[in-house]
Order: sequence, then structure tokens, then C-alpha cells
Amino acid sequence: MRTLIQNARVVLPDTIERVSVLIGGTQIADVDPAPHLRVDEVIDATGLHLLPGLIDDQVHFREPGLTPKEDLASGSRACAKGGITTFLEMPNTLPATTTQARLEEKLALAARKSLVNYGFYVGATTGNLDELRRAHRTPGIKIFIGSSTGDLLVDDQGTLERIFAETTLPITAHCEDETTVRANIARFAGTHDVADHSRIRDHQAALIATRRAIDLALRHHHRFHVLHVSTAAEAELLVDHRQLITAEACPHHLLLNVGDYPRLGTLAQMNPSLKTPDDNRHLWQALRDGRLQVVATDHAPHTLEEKRLLYPASPSGLPAVENSLALMLNEVHHGRCTLQQVVRWMCDAPARVWDLVGKGRIAVGYDADLVLVDLERTSEVRNEEQVTKCGWSPWHGVRLTGWPIRTWVLGREVYRDGGFAPAARSQEAQFDHARGGYWATASREA
Ligand code: DOR
Repeated sequence: MRTLIQNARVVLPDTIERVSVLIGGTQIADVDPAPHLRVDEVIDATGLHLLPGLIDDQVHFREPGLTPKEDLASGSRACAKGGITTFLEMPNTLPATTTQARLEEKLALAARKSLVNYGFYVGATTGNLDELRRAHRTPGIKIFIGSSTGDLLVDDQGTLERIFAETTLPITAHCEDETTVRANIARFAGTHDVADHSRIRDHQAALIATRRAIDLALRHHHRFHVLHVSTAAEAELLVDHRQLITAEACPHHLLLNVGDYPRLGTLAQMNPSLKTPDDNRHLWQALRDGRLQVVATDHAPHTLEEKRLLYPASPSGLPAVENSLALMLNEVHHGRCTLQQVVRWMCDAPARVWDLVGKGRIAVGYDADLVLVDLERTSEVRNEEQVTKCGWSPWHGVRLTGWPIRTWVLGREVYRDGGFAPAARSQEAQFDHARGGYWATASREA
């Protein structure tokens, strides 16, 4: 099957050009092919932009064990709607993904259920070093250096030293200092004010844990990716990356802050917590100047019933995969960033951080994971229209300009204007860790 997408403005690695893109089977067969080609299908994309499919390296899809909140079918449909063609999922399911056997169980489930490409992290515990050493078919090791949803936690220095010293996969971590958070919980005992969530999981908690993890990575010379950076002070630490450290921000830490608690209540409760408008500004600056490389969602669905419980019984996390691209395109519309930056942060960089094979750019030989977006379309996020199983969005009622409208995974269209393909051609993502990650590929290209 050969499909020609013509007349779109195509976001290429270095420019945006009005060229045709030829999909041949599962791959991009040509960019700007000779005219009068014989193809099976021609798509006229006049007025639209064609982007590489997004890679979201931080989602929580709750399968196995917590499927009333989300499962691999609903979560991956939400991805397809949001222009995300590959997701990398976190290990805090039930049971947690802490062994190769459980990792392979998830891969088998996804092979049956996922509409988009998939990969799964292996989670660290205080007792699974052998599993972490042996793990494969995975982007890397996830450590909860501070606890969040679920019971994964590795806080003791001895275990952390051994994980960084004795494993070879890239490591990523949730960085909030457990000791600081527990002391703050005691200080705010009895509170039902969700705004205290940001005083409990405060700036210091984030900074201490991020500094500690970076110190481990540098001493052990181990590739390390900092998840969901939420403070200006952490971004400062990332100035000196020494070719080993990469980091990311989430749309909610870029766009929401403590001023949103009165409006959103516990819907705005997440870990790390929301911080200040000043932190928002610094995180944008850190993305622009390259201290942060990736934007990913931390999609963390919980039912509205649970979210409406009185704080602190309410769980932390919010759904985001189906709106993250629109949220960022809306920022392009308002001039806060460019379309090429969005593609760098949400497609190219995550592919390089995790050594994904064939992903992250529109170029000949790359996988035909593509998303067509309409930068002019304005529409409102509505809870009723969310396809995530949890059925709500913290952006309900917000009008955004710039929306994904069609998504292809490995050359097959999986989403078009509200409708989904019945069958997928999705695949397990392939990780070639010998490539050496983001900084190694950056220097090869320089
Ligand atoms: O708010 C959060 N929710 N942060 C996390 O790190 C985990 C997530 C979840 O799984 O609910």
C-alpha cells in the first residue's frame, strides 16, 4: 500500500517545507518524490501541517490491576487522538512491573490491545537488582526515589548506589525527597486544603532528590533522565549535564501553578506538585535553552469519584495524552514557542533519549508514524469527549487553537477526526541502547 500525503507543510528535522510524503507499507518511502507517482491513495492536506508522531515517554495506563481507571486499549486510543504514536509506560501497575516476566506480560497485553506503539519500563525495588541487570525489551529502569501512586520506593542510599553501579540500562526517576515529604506531612497533619499539597511536596523536596539522583549518575557515569522537573532550582542543576543527564517537563508544570487550586481543587493534585508562576516561566526558559530536552505528559488517570475525595484522601495525577499536543500547539499559536520546538521536544528528543529505532522524525526509512495537525482549528476541551477511561480533563472548558486531526501508526491510519481504526498495526518499540542516548546522537550530528 502506497499513500501520498500532499500539500501539507511538513516539519522536517531542520525546516518546514511544503513537500509530499510517500508512505510505503510501514515506512516513509520518500520525501518530496518525483511527480506523477502511481500510488494507492492520495491525501490532500492543503492548509495542514504534518508532524512525526509524538513519543510520550511518561504515561501510566493502569493495566494490569487498575483497569477501571484506564487500560491499554483506552489509553492507546487517547494517544492516537492526541497524535501520540508511541508511549512508554511506567511500572506502578498492580502488580508492579519489577521482573522480566511481568514486563513480557505487559508486552503481550499491549500486542493485543494497543492502537499505538508501546514500551514499558522496569521498576526498581530494594530487592530486584538481578532483574534490573537482566532486563531487556525496555527503554530503561524507573526508580521512585520518592513515593507516589503505588508502593514502589527506593530511598536508601546503599540500594541506589548499587543500582547505578551495577546496571547498564538507562535510568529515570521520580525525584521528590521522601524524608522531606514525610516531615512536611507531619507538619500539615489534619489539613484538608489541597493547596497544602504544594507545601508538603515543596520546592526543597524536588531539589534535594533531583540533586541526589544527578550526583549518583555523575559518580557512576550512568545515563540518567529526570522526569517531570517542576522547579526553577532543579532546572538550574541541569545546566551542567556532562553529556549524561537529560530531563523533561510536563504540560501541567508549564501551564498550571498554585494559583489554579481555587479553580481546580484536587483535579490539580499531582506529584510533583504544582509550583509557582515563576517556576512556569523558568521551565519554559529551560526548554528553550536546552537544559530540558523533552516534554511528556505523566498521564495519570484516576476516576472523578476518587479525585473528588477530600484531600489528602484524593489521589495524585491527571490525564493528559489526548490534549498534550493541542496544549503545546496552542502555545505555538500564542507565540510562546515554535512548531519546530514542539517537534523537537515531543518527537525527536524522546526518540534519542531512549534510543528508539526508526522514530521521531520525518525522513526516508523512518517509520510512518505521523500526525496531521490543523493549526487554525479552535475547539474546547470537553470532559464528555475524552476517550481516556477516566473521562475528565483538568482543561475541561478551555479553548485551544491547534489540534491533531489524523494519526498514522506504521503507515496505517488509526485516528481521523473523532473516529478510530478497528485494527492496529502497532508494534513493540525497539531500543538500541548501544546508540548511547541523546547526547551521543547530538554530537554525531554536530
Ligand atoms: O501525580 C502522579 N501520579 N505522579 C506520579 O508520579 C504517579 C502518578 C500516578 O501513577 O498516579
